[in-house]
Amino acid sequence: MKVGIAGCGFMGEVHAESYQKLADVQLYAVAEKNQEKLEQFNQKFGPLKKYHDVIEMIMDEEIDVIDICLPTPFHREPTIQALQQNKHVLLEKPIALTLEDAQAIKLAAESSKGQFMVAHVLRFWAQYSVIRNAFKQKQLGAVKEIYASRFNELPLWSEGTWIMEESQSGGLVIDLMIHDVDFVLWNLGKVKRVWSKGIPDEKNFHIQVMSVLEFENGATAYIEGGYLNPQGAGLSSQMRIYGEKALLEMYSHEDHIWLTESGGIKKQLEIPSIDGYFEEIAYFVDCIKQNKEPSVITVDEAVESLNVCLALKKALKDNRWIEV
Ligand SMILES: NC(=O)c1ccc[n+]([C@@H]2O[C@H](COP(=O)([O-])OP(=O)(O)OC[C@H]3O[C@@H](n4cnc5c(N)ncnc54)[C@H](O)[C@@H]3O)[C@@H](O)[C@H]2O)c1
Repeated sequence: MKVGIAGCGFMGEVHAESYQKLADVQLYAVAEKNQEKLEQFNQKFGPLKKYHDVIEMIMDEEIDVIDICLPTPFHREPTIQALQQNKHVLLEKPIALTLEDAQAIKLAAESSKGQFMVAHVLRFWAQYSVIRNAFKQKQLGAVKEIYASRFNELPLWSEGTWIMEESQSGGLVIDLMIHDVDFVLWNLGKVKRVWSKGIPDEKNFHIQVMSVLEFENGATAYIEGGYLNPQGAGLSSQMRIYGEKALLEMYSHEDHIWLTESGGIKKQLEIPSIDGYFEEIAYFVDCIKQNKEPSVITVDEAVESLNVCLALKKALKDNRWIEV
């Protein structure tokens, strides 16, 4: 199976490392507009077939899988073109910036012979796989409340700092908070209405947002995101889930997840030593090999995660509850 990666920035490298660990997979080509990065990437992972133009790479008949790690405004066109060529496509999150683009991608995926998956990596991440299991095994009982947070340093690493441009990345909600929104939706189901409040910088780019999501099943989720961590501190996240049977606490800097049951019985849940990015890519490759549609994250779920994030942004802008 031959893979071509589009965009060799931060995520392009992360994906390349995973493909290199998989048997029967050849990292074959790369498309990148920045010549220096293209050469560096080729030295590190090559020799590869090098393209400046993503569409030219998509037309290469040798390639089976196109992996799109481009900035979000460039998700729609290459994804649709690759699906129309019946290539398999792994697309970095978020699916798109607008529902119109997301629906166009969904239509292309539905009429392609290629498999398609949006890389919502929390669904494969070690800590979150433990949390998912707790839900599946009904260890928590009916969930009343979830608090989820994700804080990073200002994303100064992105090419041209496009992540800090609302029009390019969709801002903090669409770029960062979508991870937790997607994970919470996966476990709590349909959202009824949302509200948000945040801290804007001098250019009205939000560096912190707290959102409230009310679910049809009666649960409430408080999802907070921010670029307030000091430079060099990296990413930190946490999740606390208050269920009728137990409280689950995950803090990303800890080696265990805590499960406290009534009577004060506190258990440590083991976190498996797996790499979420590798798990995600290995799963997608396996779906291709077995000719089955990815079910851990479906295209409809990726569209819904974007839909809810757009509602969070509208709530932030209008300062009111938004029905989803
Ligand atoms: N799943 C995660 O944990 C995670 C983390 C970070 C980013 N992302 C997502 O991954 C995607 C890429 O983000 P990144 O952080 O890797 O960005 P980045 O800026 O580090 O890399 C993007 C690369 O694409 C190249 N590029 C831009 N436009 C191009 C074009 N038209 N043709 C060819 N090359 C082009 C840039 O030169 C750059 O090298 C985004 O959608 C982002 O939301 C996901």
